[in-house]
Parts: sequence; structure tokens; C-alpha cells
Amino acid sequence: MSAAPDPKVIRTPQPLGITEDRVDDFTYWVRAVLELGLQEPELRVKYRDVIRNFFRATVADRRANPGGDDLISALLTATDPDGNPVDPEIVVGMANLQLVAGIDTTWSSIGSALFHLGTNPEDLERLRAEPELWPGAIEEFLRFYSPVTMARVVDSPVTYGGIDFVPGDKVLMNFPGANHDPDVFEDPDTFIIDRAENRHVAFGAGIHRCAGSNLARLEMDVALRTFVDRIGDFSVQTPIEVSWASGQVRGPRILPITF
Ligand code: HEM
Repeated sequence: MSAAPDPKVIRTPQPLGITEDRVDDFTYWVRAVLELGLQEPELRVKYRDVIRNFFRATVADRRANPGGDDLISALLTATDPDGNPVDPEIVVGMANLQLVAGIDTTWSSIGSALFHLGTNPEDLERLRAEPELWPGAIEEFLRFYSPVTMARVVDSPVTYGGIDFVPGDKVLMNFPGANHDPDVFEDPDTFIIDRAENRHVAFGAGIHRCAGSNLARLEMDVALRTFVDRIGDFSVQTPIEVSWASGQVRGPRILPITF
């Protein structure tokens, strides 16, 4: 029988095996790549290299000190179906994607939900009165605000929707547009907190569908419920002062609330 966990010890899982004291660095690096870099491309290039070099050093360290129980150590000892080890540069790429994909996506979705609740008091009131609505409301936040848009480069000729695509064409996959498609969603431009049918594509679809979707849902659930429980009634009285990040990941960055 295993010993009962000590309630005083808070165990924070560290999938990449990186300590929490780097949180401000990571936050700035990801902002520089995905947000600030839209206006200042040199920042994007610089911090893309900063992140990759950080993970190159981390991968080198884990190769020199094997046996850790984190994701990077596990990938370094994994093999593909033919028995070949994973190229360390691929491990760097996977760690990079894990970091970049997991930060501003969630704060954008949480921020959008807070913006919504701060500007739609009837929805805030319903969630406070009927907490069982939270899981469905989170799906509707994801559908309605759809924080992430992705793109692809066409690699073989294909005709879709009457359009001929040729190799090299760049295609923006407008997940937010798809999530407001009137052929799929009833009354798509209305936020319906208890929408019954909600097969949205906020996490994409197909082979590259978001690997962190359930973690993202959990983060939204914990952050939003905790905020509403602790703050109670709040509002965004000056929506004009809200600043939104655009680009591939969309969400509020400055969100003044009154409570
Ligand atoms: C609400 C928050 C999030 C949203 C809306 C979101 C959305 C997306 C979207 C639309 C894609 C691209 C799908 C495609 O290209 O077809 C994606 C990919 C990905 N996401 Fe998320 N994501 C979120 C949070 C997270 C978190 C928390 C993590 C991990 C910590 C994560 C990890 C990934 C990874 C690794 C990929 C790449 C998957 C692949 O290319 O195979 N995401 N996400």
C-alpha cells in the first residue's frame, strides 16, 4: 500500500522538466515570437532562435544526464517503429512546439472568456447560479472566440471547393470562420451558453489537431471558475480600452475590469 500524499507538498508536473523560475522568460519569448514579432519581425527571428537554443542546451544536458522522468528524457530514449532513435533536433522541435503552442493559446482563450463575461452580465449570472453549465460554456467560448488560426503549404495538386490549389500555395485555415459557419451552427453569431450541438474546430481537425486540447480545457476550467468564485461580480466597463492581439493567436492583452 502506498503512503498517503502529504497535503503540504504541492507537486507541479513538469512535462518538459524545466523549473518554474523561468516562467517570465518563457512568457516574454513566446510573446516576442507570436505577438510582438508581428510588428517587429527581427524580434520574432531573434526569440525563435533563443527558444531553440534553450532547448538545444536542455537536450544536450539530458543526453549527458539520462534517466529523468520528463518528456525530453523520454523522447531521447524513444525509438520509431523501425527501431531508430529520435533525432535530437526533432526533440528540440517538439519541445519548442510544446512551449509555443501551450502558452498564449490558453491565456488568449481565458482572456476572451473573461472579456465575454465582463460584457455579458446575463451569462456571468447564469454561470454563478448554474455552475453545471461550465463545461458547455467553455466549448462555446472556444467556438465563439476561436483563438487559434493555422496555415498550410500545399504539397500536391488538389481541387477543393471549386478552387485548384498547386504545390507551394499557402492556405490559411480559418478555424474562426468555420466555427461561425451557418451551415453547421444554428444562429452561429450568437453566443449560446448552453448550446446543445457544438462540434467546433477551435482545436483544428485531422492529423495535426491540438495535442493539448484537454489540458487547455482543464486550464480554462480551473482559471475561469476560480476567477468567478473569488471575484464574483465583475464587468468590462470600457471595452474600447481592451487591446487585442491579432495574428495566429487572438485574444485580449489588456483587459481592464471593475469589481
Ligand atoms: C485553448 C487553448 C488552445 C487552442 C485553441 C489550441 C488550438 C490548436 C490548433 C488550432 C492547433 C493546430 C491544428 C492544426 O494545425 O490542424 C493546435 C496544435 C497544437 N497544439 Fe494546441 N491549442 C490550445 C492549447 C494547447 C496546449 C495547452 C498545448 C500543450 C501544452 C497545445 C499543444 C499543441 C501542439 C503540440 C500542437 C501541434 C500538433 C501537431 O502539429 O501535431 N495546445 N492547437
